[in-house]
Amino acid sequence: MTDGVITFGSDNTVQIVNPQAKAILGSEGYNSKNPERYKIFMPFLNRVKQEKMHLAEEIKIDGKIISARFAPLMDEKSTILGVLVVLQDVTKERKLDHLRREFIGDVSHELRTPLSYLQGYTEALLDQIVDNPEEQKRYLSIILDETLRLRRLVNDLLDLSQIEGGHFVLKKDKIRLDKLIVRVVKKLDPVLEEKDLSIVVDCDQLPIIEADEDRIVQVLINLLDNAMRYADPGGEIKIHAKTVEEGIIVSMTNTGVGIPEDELPFIWERFYKIDKSRARHTEGTGLGLAIVKNLIDAHRGKVWATNYPEGCTTFSFFLPSKNK
Ligand SMILES: Nc1ncnc2c1ncn2[C@@H]1O[C@H](COP(=O)(O)OP(=O)(O)OP(=O)(O)O)[C@@H](O)[C@H]1O
Ligand SMILES: [Mg+2]
Repeated sequence: MTDGVITFGSDNTVQIVNPQAKAILGSEGYNSKNPERYKIFMPFLNRVKQEKMHLAEEIKIDGKIISARFAPLMDEKSTILGVLVVLQDVTKERKLDHLRREFIGDVSHELRTPLSYLQGYTEALLDQIVDNPEEQKRYLSIILDETLRLRRLVNDLLDLSQIEGGHFVLKKDKIRLDKLIVRVVKKLDPVLEEKDLSIVVDCDQLPIIEADEDRIVQVLINLLDNAMRYADPGGEIKIHAKTVEEGIIVSMTNTGVGIPEDELPFIWERFYKIDKSRARHTEGTGLGLAIVKNLIDAHRGKVWATNYPEGCTTFSFFLPSKNK
């Protein structure tokens, strides 16, 4: 889009407004017959006329961020004839800048914690602070855990940037979700035992759908990883899958503290965690659900979460059976 241009006379009356300026300012009211709407420019116009200088400002109008560059219009004797204003809508750019800064902050924060553990425990071992072999082994296993956590963080970030950047292609195949669910659950057996949890699978015979098997496995694993991580010990995780008119719905329910209702809309955002003070061993990076949402969106599906007052949380996703 070309720039918006407005010219004001020396008495600040509007002379010309091009269609782009009207589009940028967005409101029906912005026309030369409605001087009230141009009030926001007045202080800048006066300064430009007084100082006979160019001026660049960012102005908020109706929730948009508008870059406005002002130039005095003068004759050869430097008498002010008016002011030319060039407008650009920079809302998107500024929002992206903000997101980028926030993202870098989040990533640095997530990297810093495991790195300080790695440094601390390695230094302690090198300085031979502990000579008990059992304790040394414990330090080494913390170092290994933190290294794995870093690796997972980097892999998740790479995944997300590929998916969000549109640099990935779904490898669609004919899959049977009921079989896939059983296969994924089987792999989790050792973890379930360790956490004293059980999984109950209740699946209809599901029709074959076209989907990217590896990516759907990733969705199932991320959701089940959460269900296991945030479930009460000794609890039961229920997986229910059914055929609906236009596809398949899979739901996973776990008991536990649940998710506060007002936080439900945000859990799909990168790095969003409910309770940052939860014990470190249950803490993740907050990327799992962002990946799930992106992958399900890529399949033209839907994913949502529901809380039940008795302390259960259900995550469900829908996959369409027809491919457009
Ligand atoms: N089944 C669940 N029960 C209760 N809370 C949940 C459940 N699933 C997710 N949450 C909450 O939503 C937040 C975001 O989940 P998400 O999977 O994106 O991140 P994470 O599990 O913290 O880290 P990651 O999956 O990247 O290791 C979690 O921190 C947790 O607080
Ligand atoms: Mg998770």
